[in-house]
This record gives sequence, structure tokens and C-alpha cells, in this order.
Amino acid sequence: MSSPRKSRDPKTLRPATALVHGASVRSQFDETSEALFLTQGYLYDTMEIAEARFKGDEPGLIYSRFSNPTVGMFEKRMALLEGAEAARATASGMAAVTASLMGQVKAGDHVVAAKALFGSCLYVVEELLPRFGVESTLVEGTDLEAWRAAMRPNTRTAFLESPTNPTLEVIDIAAVAEIVHEAGATLVVDNVFATPLQQRPLALGADCVVYSATKHIDGQGRTLGGVILGNEKFVSTHIHNFLRQTGPCLSPFNAWVMLKSLETLHVRVAAQSRSAERVAEYLSGHPRIKRVLYPGRPDHPQYSIARKQMSGGGTLVAFEIDGGKKAAFAFANQLSIIGISNNLGDAKSLITHPETTTHQRLKPEQRAALGIGPGLLRLSVGLEDVEDLVEDIGRALG
Ligand SMILES: Cc1ncc(COP(=O)(O)O)c(C=O)c1O
Repeated sequence: MSSPRKSRDPKTLRPATALVHGASVRSQFDETSEALFLTQGYLYDTMEIAEARFKGDEPGLIYSRFSNPTVGMFEKRMALLEGAEAARATASGMAAVTASLMGQVKAGDHVVAAKALFGSCLYVVEELLPRFGVESTLVEGTDLEAWRAAMRPNTRTAFLESPTNPTLEVIDIAAVAEIVHEAGATLVVDNVFATPLQQRPLALGADCVVYSATKHIDGQGRTLGGVILGNEKFVSTHIHNFLRQTGPCLSPFNAWVMLKSLETLHVRVAAQSRSAERVAEYLSGHPRIKRVLYPGRPDHPQYSIARKQMSGGGTLVAFEIDGGKKAAFAFANQLSIIGISNNLGDAKSLITHPETTTHQRLKPEQRAALGIGPGLLRLSVGLEDVEDLVEDIGRALG
């Protein structure tokens, strides 16, 4: 039956509308909420149809490791939001990072990455890739000359996150993309901290964007997931077959949770960013706080780059408390609303001590070079009333 309702080209929708309606596919039951297709496989009417699907002569679903209608809706909605031609969902953010790099390289290739990476990403670049004959070089992400000097004829790809975890350093994505492209390589950006609403790496020149959807995209502490986005050629050449054959696929159930979460992403990120700015302001005036790092503040070391490439300051604040690890632990242990957890982007405010948790496996000199000292704390600001958060912090500092 044809629908009397007009449909609008989803690419023309503004982000908040695309997040609610984009890429919805209705079943024959005309449900309002997107359906959860919790199925491993699909039936073929005839053997001939099965043969044609496997040969690729006929479109259609084959197996949920390759594609699933609920996962497909999530991928397409993410692609709309990011302005990407193609997206593939993965079981976690680390599955997305690993596939985005491993899918591009072969033995004899070289990879360049910024030093300030999430610990597991550093493992992939520094330990995993070299095991398969792919050399890697780590550079100071904010030093453009260092990127240029690290490029070699066999450099295949470059990788960075911005703002970085946990010190919220901001790297000039457009400038790095130019250097990387001049060398004939591609640029992959981990956009977890900025979210697709506050930073568009593809528009800045990146070839691929990866997310831990576990963070703001779920945003309510339930499911793990990841996404890889790029143009059709990048995704079909480097990602599609790698994921299909190696299997780090997103569960349809998790895709459905994420799809529903996307409906509120813009409201959550906007509210959390406003609160993060207020918390950063409060911390910056406190005598026990030595330094506050928030990309939305003029005193941030890369404020001008943040203003150029981000449309908000993000939902995270990093700060250094006077008195090192002992003071940091005592402060966090006194908090009653803000929870102690290494996760981020959640509706609940969460605080972590990077030196002893997320960045524990780094050598002390690596941590020192990244500015991860014993007094550094990373706060992910949630959806609570910000004045309750400020009071919680004030009491714990007092
Ligand atoms: C910047 C960054 N990239 C990647 C990841 C990995 O994501 P996941 O935990 O979903 O595998 C995380 C967090 O865990 C992260 O903070």
C-alpha cells in the first residue's frame, strides 16, 4: 500500500530532526518506535534466491554478522548525523578503532599517531600493529612539524583523537589532514570526546571517523558499541569486508538501544556541555585547584583551534588538584553525587583518576609527557542539576 504522507530527503534534515526520524524503516505493522529485529539469520523463499543473494546478484539480507535491519537503521542515522556516505557499526569503540586501522594496512606499511591516545588505542598502534609488520611512529599531536617529519613513503594512515583523553588537548584536524594527504596517506579521527554534534572531522578533511558509541551515543550506561564512518569508497575498500569476515558486529539489541538514544543525543550533549562549562568556571576559581582544562574556555592552551573546529566545549573537564594522588583520592572519595568510574558521556556525572586507571599501563615518563600527573582528575559532566554538582564538588574540596 502506498503511503499518502510525503517523505522528505533525510539529508536535508537538521541534526535534531535527523536524530529522531532519520533512517527509520517501518515494518508492515506501522510501529511508531523502530523495531528490534533480534534475529541471527533470514529465510529465502527458494534455493535460487539464496544462491542469488550469496552471489550478490540480488539485494537482501543473509546473516546478522553482515547486516541486520535494526543495525542498518542505526548505521544510516549515524551517517546522516555525521554527513558521511557510509557507516558500519561494531561491538565496541575498540572494535571500531582496531578495524579502522587494521582494515587499511598490510605488512611493510607505516602508521603515524598522536601520542595522546586512549590506553587501548595506544596498545593497537604501539604493540599490535608492529606484531604484524606494520611500523608505527608516535608524535606530539599539537606539533604540525612533528607530523610532517614522521611521514614516510610507506605511511598508509594516521590516527588521532581530539580533544584527547584525558587532558583535553585539541589537535588541528584540518592541518593534520593536509599533511597526511600530501604524504598520500589517510586520516582516522576518534571523535568520542567532541561527539558528532560538536565536531565534524570529515568536513575538516579526515577520511574516517570512529566512535565509542558506548559513550555519549548510548549516554545512559547500558550498552557497548562503536561506529566507523567515511565515504562509500573508504568503507567498502577497507572496512566492510574486514568486519564481515572477522565478526566484531554490533548486536541488534544494542543497536536498538543506541538508535533510541540518538533521539535525545542533541538535548543531552547541549545540557551536559552547558553544565561542564559552569563546573569548569567554578573549579577555576577554587584555591585548591591548580589548573583547569576545558576546550570551551579562553584559558585552554588550544582555545583558538577549539573555536575553529568545535561548536561547543564538550562534556568533560580535566583539572589538577593541589596535593597529588592523596588529595585527588580524598576529594573523589568525598563526592556523594558524582560517581567514581572510568566511563564518560553518561547521564550520571563520573570522575576518574587517569594515572591509576585509564592510563595506568603507560610508562611514568609517557604519562609525564602527556601531562597526566598524580593530581589530575577527569570529570564527565552528566545531566544532574548543575548546582547540585557544584555543591558536591565544593563540599568534597572543603
Ligand atoms: C577516546 C576513546 N576511544 C575509544 C574508546 C574505546 O571504546 P569502548 O570502551 O566502547 O571499546 C574509549 C573508551 O573506552 C575512549 O575514551
